[in-house]
Amino acid sequence: MTTQLPTGIRHVEQLAVEGRRVFVRVDFNVPLTKDRKVSDDQRITAALPTIRHLIERGARIVLASHLGRPDGQVKPEYSLEPVAARLAELLGQDVVLADEPAGDGARKVVGDLRDGHVALLENLRYHPGEEANDDAFARQLASYADVYVNDAFGTAHRAHASTAGMVKHVGERGAGYVMAKEIAVLSRLLGEVERPYVAVVGGAKVSDKIEVLDALLERVDAIAIGGAMANTFLEAQGKALGKSKVERDKLAIARNFLRKASERKVTVHLPVDVIVAAGLDAAAGAAVGIDAIPADQMALDIGPASLETYRRAVLDARTVFWNGPMGVFEKAPFAAGTVAVAKAMADNRLALTVVGGGDSAAAVAQAGVADRITHVSTGGGASLEFIQGLDLPGIAALRQ
Ligand code: 3PG
Repeated sequence: MTTQLPTGIRHVEQLAVEGRRVFVRVDFNVPLTKDRKVSDDQRITAALPTIRHLIERGARIVLASHLGRPDGQVKPEYSLEPVAARLAELLGQDVVLADEPAGDGARKVVGDLRDGHVALLENLRYHPGEEANDDAFARQLASYADVYVNDAFGTAHRAHASTAGMVKHVGERGAGYVMAKEIAVLSRLLGEVERPYVAVVGGAKVSDKIEVLDALLERVDAIAIGGAMANTFLEAQGKALGKSKVERDKLAIARNFLRKASERKVTVHLPVDVIVAAGLDAAAGAAVGIDAIPADQMALDIGPASLETYRRAVLDARTVFWNGPMGVFEKAPFAAGTVAVAKAMADNRLALTVVGGGDSAAAVAQAGVADRITHVSTGGGASLEFIQGLDLPGIAALRQ
């Protein structure tokens, strides 16, 4: 069944794709191991429904993605070669990799495509025209397409040649399954939701999240803050944080946010205890109250009392949005807070639970609970901009 899309945006199922060249912008910006194997293929598997749908309908499929930030230069370590190999394994059919995103080689690969066959262009960001949204490059990409499909929600907040510029040069356009589902679920957070609506926001920096925190203040009943950014809020309240990471130049922003939250009667949960250690490589941490952080130690996770408060808030909510880890969850001694949030979201069977990509999506996968959460977004920055109510360029370009 076709997911409900905003007016003016068509679903790939509604496009005439049979025997035509369908350019699909995917987000295959996946992590690689040191020996250049795909270490997390979630973004590749997410795109399979759109690709399989097009194969079944006999389209000639031209996939295009960026990988990392090669800054407009050809750098072999950013080649999509490992991605093409993984995709071929998953599809059980050949994926021809063009050795450039645009040019004679790319044109030949596209020209040789037969119905139901799949090609992948080399890293779009090998060409400076991609991020510059250069019109000549956009037209070159458009010349490989009869139909344009955007399934790269994770890159929808970028106005690049492949997400924005080329779209107007292609006659027919629409959203793939990933894009359609992301729009449908994330839009629910912008409308009337069941209450209480609780947001859990973590991560390293206040500066990265202040816009989304401000936007959430307009909508939620409570916000639980964790990760290193919580330190800045705590210091703004006069706490002594020892050696913890604190953004001293953001204390005024933090104070201002806390004042606005109290005016709006939005509850802000900050850690009342933390797990401290001398550094990130410590073999273990110790739980201390927020007023008892030793001068030579740093906070690396929320403590057990805070964890219980955050867990309860998530379990009692009817709508939850979570972005950003509660601590250094990649290290076992400092993972408990983040894992507890992931599990509480999974255990709350009554709520609409949404995870906003990036590290939190990785934590959900690590905790093995992804299938019990309503929606784990494939977008990090894109999901944050979407829930701020911003019109993302990659979505705006799809409107007819
Ligand atoms: C992401 O991983 O968030 C997207 O692929 C966008 O990547 P970018 O931040 O390098 O534009």
